[in-house]
Amino acid sequence: MPPASSSMAPSSMAPSSVATLDVAALRAHFPALQGGAAHFDGPGGSQIPGVVADAVAATMTAPMSTRGSVTTAEQNSDANVLAGRAALADLLGAQPGGVVFGRSMTALTFDLSRTLAKDWGPGDEVVVSRLDHDANIRPWVLAAESVGATVRWAEFDPATGELDPQAFADVVSARTRLVAVTGASNLIGTRPDVAAIAEVAHAHGALLFVDAVHLAAHASVDLETLGADVVACSPYKFFGPHCGALAADPALLETLRPDKLAPSSDAVPERFELGTLPYELMAGTAAAVDFLAGLVPGDGTRRERLARSFAAVEEHESALRARIEAALQELPGATVYSRAARRTPTLLVRFDGHDSADVYRFLAGRGVNVPASSFYALEASRALGLGDAGALRIGVASYTDDADVDRLLDGLQACLTRA
Ligand SMILES: Cc1ncc(COP(=O)(O)O)c(C=O)c1O
Repeated sequence: MPPASSSMAPSSMAPSSVATLDVAALRAHFPALQGGAAHFDGPGGSQIPGVVADAVAATMTAPMSTRGSVTTAEQNSDANVLAGRAALADLLGAQPGGVVFGRSMTALTFDLSRTLAKDWGPGDEVVVSRLDHDANIRPWVLAAESVGATVRWAEFDPATGELDPQAFADVVSARTRLVAVTGASNLIGTRPDVAAIAEVAHAHGALLFVDAVHLAAHASVDLETLGADVVACSPYKFFGPHCGALAADPALLETLRPDKLAPSSDAVPERFELGTLPYELMAGTAAAVDFLAGLVPGDGTRRERLARSFAAVEEHESALRARIEAALQELPGATVYSRAARRTPTLLVRFDGHDSADVYRFLAGRGVNVPASSFYALEASRALGLGDAGALRIGVASYTDDADVDRLLDGLQACLTRA
């Protein structure tokens, strides 16, 4: 993979020993950011660095064939599969042999839910959270319903945005087979205490499925620290191409029997990967992980470099988030729904007397991309009293800079004070 950070200026070391993100150098890697819009739409999918697009193109223009070991074309595809898995294993603190690629997190979760439900029946229970994106709710609800199992809900507190582990302790029992929870809410940013929720699930012998799609763009993810049995992510949220992946202990995957074609491999993780893999997207994913690992200079394994990068990303994003939050307090009629103590820099806001969809369109007209929706976190939006329409979501990304924030705040001021 091309060295993502080779042209970035060296970062200074802050007293906290967290390296400072060189945002100007980072932004230069994103063709879409050059003279374009201010992108606060990252939670829906990030902009893409040139090196990732180059990796996809290089894969597609090199000799390419179905994965194998005889021809160069076969070997190229095989290498891309192994590189993609190794990269995601480093990103998620998993083993390469436990990484399953697929079309999207949604498709993979549906597939896995049907596989697990083969072993569920009446009397069994699954627990989902009201805070989650529907991709980590509906597959489990439908799978449970299809076999007569019961669904229980862990509720978050709309007043605080917190999803307390106690909400799981209240509904998890010896009948619970699976608990599904988000690593971070794509709507209001809440980062639940997943490790504590894992303890609740495991104390009752249930599996824990963690949706890290939103989290993985903002923080270092570790399968073991989270206590997750399965963790899901989507590379297009963190500078990669549009695909999805799951990671689990290969030993767990060995115990599962997904539907598959008769001639396709029964090995793990291939058993779970239906059809021909997207070799070029796997190469793009590896390039995205390398790019992330190179956000701040330094030695170490890719996993160590990723941890260093994410520490710098968190520091940068938190500072911008604090600046936006302070400014929102000064704007007339603002209600900010992102309130949890621990959260990503994703702010959900609405303004009294203003339709969020109108504010969205007004800002878009000024080149500031801040979409309004419930963003598929339908249950959470309804619980917040925002119905299906939701509100404005301001998503800070690592490439967001102060000039973007200026444009956002000027745009909001202009929108709210126009005659
Ligand atoms: C938190 C979260 N989970 C799941 C998904 C679904 O991911 P995918 O588009 O890969 O199916 C999204 C997409 O926005 C998301 O934000």
